Amino acid sequence: MGIIAAIYINNGNSEHVRELVLEDKKRLSLQLPLQDKKKDPKDRPDLVAGDYSREYECCLKVEGLKLKDLQPQCRLKVGGGIYLRVVQTTGYVAASDGSAGVASVEVLLGGKVNTGDSIVVYPKYRFAVVTASDKGSQSLREDTSGPLIREMLMPWGDVAEYLVVPDDRDRLRDVMVDLVDQKKVDIVFTTGGTGFSPRDVTPEATRSVIERETPGIPEAMRLESLKVTPKAMLSRAVAGIRGKTLVINLPGSPKAVRENLAVFLLVMDHALEILTGRGGECGHE
Ligand code: MTE
Repeated sequence: MGIIAAIYINNGNSEHVRELVLEDKKRLSLQLPLQDKKKDPKDRPDLVAGDYSREYECCLKVEGLKLKDLQPQCRLKVGGGIYLRVVQTTGYVAASDGSAGVASVEVLLGGKVNTGDSIVVYPKYRFAVVTASDKGSQSLREDTSGPLIREMLMPWGDVAEYLVVPDDRDRLRDVMVDLVDQKKVDIVFTTGGTGFSPRDVTPEATRSVIERETPGIPEAMRLESLKVTPKAMLSRAVAGIRGKTLVINLPGSPKAVRENLAVFLLVMDHALEILTGRGGECGHE
């Protein structure tokens, strides 16, 4: 874990601020300074943000992380819930051990950063989205819930697999088993087919796939959703683990997807850290 030691903004000249609001999609630089103060100053790029004013509006000076830990594409969580993605890194010549340099990062989920905030490296996860829809699978209806899940998961990783499958128990089971056992994604999210209509069989298909049920996830989603609509009690969604993959049912409508997925996102990093054992190590993908 690292710490934000200083925040600089550049308006031609470098200026030091205590806190800064980072906007989504903004690019900024992270400076990981040389630890060895005895090195020849000629080998050290100056660590003031003014050097980067042409490329970046702001810069965070980070202590406690090594540049080699920040491989391109890995995510960084700053403070309570700001996410950055590493785009590119450049090492300092004087840091032959790969410890110091500059990382160019993109803001995935913005917010306020303060000096003293923690900064933690997270791996990028791989997800699958399965939309259970008879009409969607015949292209009679456009699926908006699947793309919404992809958008909401952006700060955490990629939706590597996306399928629209008819509401058929065996087809759904086969698709989910393949995504877990062959594609080895970290989480399979399903959307749709959790209601009461005779064709709603996603929970039954899911139960035939999972080895260990995780009832707390759908319980929490229903509990929170009941505050929004009493119809939340009509969701029969289940969730569970097969191997090292989590399978989670979400309801079908985009509104319900947004409300339900938001509940799980609060704990997703922690859940995946335990399940995959990959927390905090970006390089081990
Ligand atoms: N949960 C939230 N948060 N918001 C909603 O609007 N809709 C419910 C429920 N869960 C809803 C919700 C409704 S109307 C139904 S029928 C069930 O999810 C099942 O949805 P599905 O059949 O589309 O899977």
